[in-house]
Amino acid sequence: MKKSILTLVLIVCTASSFAGSMEQGISIIPEPVSIVKNEGHYLLPDVVTIASPSGPEMTFLHSLLLEKLSLAPGKKVEFKVNASNADIELLLNESADTTIGAEGYRLNVTPQKITIRANMPAGLLYGVQTLFQLMPPQIESDKREESVLWQLPAVEVVDYPRVGWRGLMLDVSRHFFTVDEVKQYIDNMVKYKYNIFHWHLTDDEGWRIEIKSLPKLTGVGAWRAEQTGWFGSFSQPEPDAPKSYGGYYTQEEIKDVVRYAMERNIQVMPEIDVPGHSSAALAAYPELSCFPGSGDHFVRTGATFLDWNTGGRPEAIYENTLCPANEEVYLFMEKVMGEVAELFPFEYIHTGGDEAPYTFWKKSPAVKQLMEREKINDMAGVQSYFGKRVEQIILAKGKKMMGWDEILEGGITPTTALMSWRGIDYGIEASLSGHQVVMSPTNYVYIDYMQGDLSTEPRVYSSLRLRQTYSFDPVPAGADEEYILGGQANLWTEQIYNIRQAEYMTWPRGFAVSESLWSPAEKKDWNRFVSKTEDHFVRFNFAQTKYSPAIYDPIVTVSKEGDDYFLTLTPEIEGLDIYTSFDSSTPDDFYPRYSEAQPIPRDAELVRIITYRDNKPIGRLMSIMVEDLKKRAR
Ligand code: ACM
Repeated sequence: MKKSILTLVLIVCTASSFAGSMEQGISIIPEPVSIVKNEGHYLLPDVVTIASPSGPEMTFLHSLLLEKLSLAPGKKVEFKVNASNADIELLLNESADTTIGAEGYRLNVTPQKITIRANMPAGLLYGVQTLFQLMPPQIESDKREESVLWQLPAVEVVDYPRVGWRGLMLDVSRHFFTVDEVKQYIDNMVKYKYNIFHWHLTDDEGWRIEIKSLPKLTGVGAWRAEQTGWFGSFSQPEPDAPKSYGGYYTQEEIKDVVRYAMERNIQVMPEIDVPGHSSAALAAYPELSCFPGSGDHFVRTGATFLDWNTGGRPEAIYENTLCPANEEVYLFMEKVMGEVAELFPFEYIHTGGDEAPYTFWKKSPAVKQLMEREKINDMAGVQSYFGKRVEQIILAKGKKMMGWDEILEGGITPTTALMSWRGIDYGIEASLSGHQVVMSPTNYVYIDYMQGDLSTEPRVYSSLRLRQTYSFDPVPAGADEEYILGGQANLWTEQIYNIRQAEYMTWPRGFAVSESLWSPAEKKDWNRFVSKTEDHFVRFNFAQTKYSPAIYDPIVTVSKEGDDYFLTLTPEIEGLDIYTSFDSSTPDDFYPRYSEAQPIPRDAELVRIITYRDNKPIGRLMSIMVEDLKKRAR
């Protein structure tokens, strides 16, 4: 009997919380753990009084509330100590609320007032993000929005994250982003409750962090010849081409970004990618290579220097690895890690370890001697030797080491953490042997991959549609979840030349990843997510943040039967009508509506495709040469 009453109560509670989250106009990303819609609305008064704890940890949140409520809504904001009659009350619990943990919050909006309770300031920050998402989208505007009714629905939200590590990685080596652009990127991370900014600071195409004891790293390593086009297939630059492209962050700028991020509950993890991906370091200090006199060391531009057609680890055409058999390399790492450890309060330093070619190590007499001395059998063992020595340096600075999953190959110490990028299996394996793991697999969260058709995107060698990203599970079956710290999406910037394109590539896939990392798995719902995504596009329009509209464009596939080719168009979301032309004219909704695979007329030169919704064009006009389409036929 008791059990059936409990079941009934659970059904009623679940139903009302489900109904609440489905209400038109409530579009919170990431989806909260629980949201119940109540009767009525709260209307922001002309003068909004806010009662809040004080202290340095609250300074940013106060300035955010002040800025947001005064800018678009044009409200006067007053902070008060006396909570009893405030419009918005922020409360830090005196005794811990164990349900919500360190980052969770309880948000209660009634027609009379708004209350946010949390155990820690981070929870209040996230409660405020949800509060903004309950407000009209014009809250994202940077100018006064006169005609808006500034009210929000009465709700009760209980919310806390699924995983602790909710990361985005930005590669600032392949293309450089200024401090202001990095902050702009971080600003959007906060809105979606990300808490780790993985800063990929060094690579073959530029060293971006000032190391005072090694000034050539930035004096030489931060600058390269400028080339534009399809990164990875540029012509080889002339040796005397001016080194006009680049930039780096001074240590003061690094501290500024770290402070900026921490105010927003974001920890910054630096990555110094070694022993591969080190052309920029070698351009500055060629003596760190196994072949210092080769003259081949310069900051790479995106012209070919590795051979990727090996079926596995790349082979180097030009050497880009530090020499593991050279003691100077460890002195170098000691200096670099010493300064890095001082600059970043976060517990982990990422030391890369991915894609290190063994080509030149195999030719090196010094590496051969090292292998004999240390009784190492193979090159993975050599990389493992290098990794373990670097870890000793890092541990001595009071930090922990994390690396890409290749470092598993030659063996790692129990204290090394792993970032699983070549799928999830390395992460599962590492978790089962007791290593801390962050899941960051290419097939779900590599947001440098094209999210739309090749005809609308800069060319990248792989694709990743929003729907696939949304199915990311940071804690996959088979892993030991105790060791899964969380997950992360990675934005490599070979083909990303500016911050607008960085935003375009990140969003909306960044919405999908945030919901995968924050929301309970059972709360995820693709159709609901799509509808929320469209609401957030409106917010981004007001915020002037760029995003990809690729969900409105169909997935284009081509098949061949005998000599005939057929075009298949699969919409990624529901409710779209697709129109095509094979005669080079621009289709509209008076053209025949696509319903099944279409034969491509033998003499057609160009296919054009457009999607409509409710009789209005919504997708981008896609124009694809038939010759190119035929190459796609499976
Ligand atoms: C990687 O994508 N090379 C870690």
